[in-house]
Amino acid sequence: MSIRFSNEEFRALKNLLPIYQWGLKTLMTKLNILHEDLTGFQKNNAIEYIKSRIKAPESIAEKLHKLGVEVTAENAKKHLRDIAGVRIIVPFARDIYFLADIIRSMPGITVLVEKDFISSPKPSGYRSYHIIMEVPVFFSGKTENVTVEIQIRTEAMNFWATLEHKARYKYKERIPQHLSDELVVIADKISELDNRMFLIHEIISLINQDT
Ligand code: GTP
Ligand code: MG
Repeated sequence: MSIRFSNEEFRALKNLLPIYQWGLKTLMTKLNILHEDLTGFQKNNAIEYIKSRIKAPESIAEKLHKLGVEVTAENAKKHLRDIAGVRIIVPFARDIYFLADIIRSMPGITVLVEKDFISSPKPSGYRSYHIIMEVPVFFSGKTENVTVEIQIRTEAMNFWATLEHKARYKYKERIPQHLSDELVVIADKISELDNRMFLIHEIISLINQDT
């Protein structure tokens, strides 16, 4: 049976989630402006697209259970940092660091942690750059800090992470060895592919400069 919130805790969660929505909205406004500027004026196209989501109550419950804490709204707020999540897809790995620098310097946010799974991939093969931050949200006369997790990755890294996530889900976190070995091999190939595509991009840029 799947792990669930009690009725009372579910109600508490329903009161908590809007604050995360507002935090996400606040941050998305900043990120959408950045996207428009980079695409329209700067013409460097460092962002392909941006997605955001609020973690589903079932996923929140499952993660709390996995952490070994009681499935309550208070524990969700206390222990989870990805209730509000943003994913930024970029053309090339190099753009990830370019964006991380910009995001880090955004006024009005506080970076809590950065995790560089690009230069140090996870044993699973997972590659992505994570920035966990606090976004202040002002409502009915008070300000609350909302924690948001931003994941920055290339389309190829995203393709891999989505498939691996499905495998994890399907096998309930116990992916058979031969499959997880294969996923590590593919993750390395994807990284090589990203680099080779980037080289072609660089060559094309040079040609464009000459003409
Ligand atoms: P969980 O790993 O989800 O328990 O979170 P955590 O608090 O340990 O943080 P971590 O930085 O390890 O992971 C945060 C998020 O990154 C996850 O919720 C996933 O979205 C993503 N992620 C981390 N590791 C992997 C991985 O091996 N495969 C995939 N597909 N996604 C991962
Ligand atoms: Mg983890």
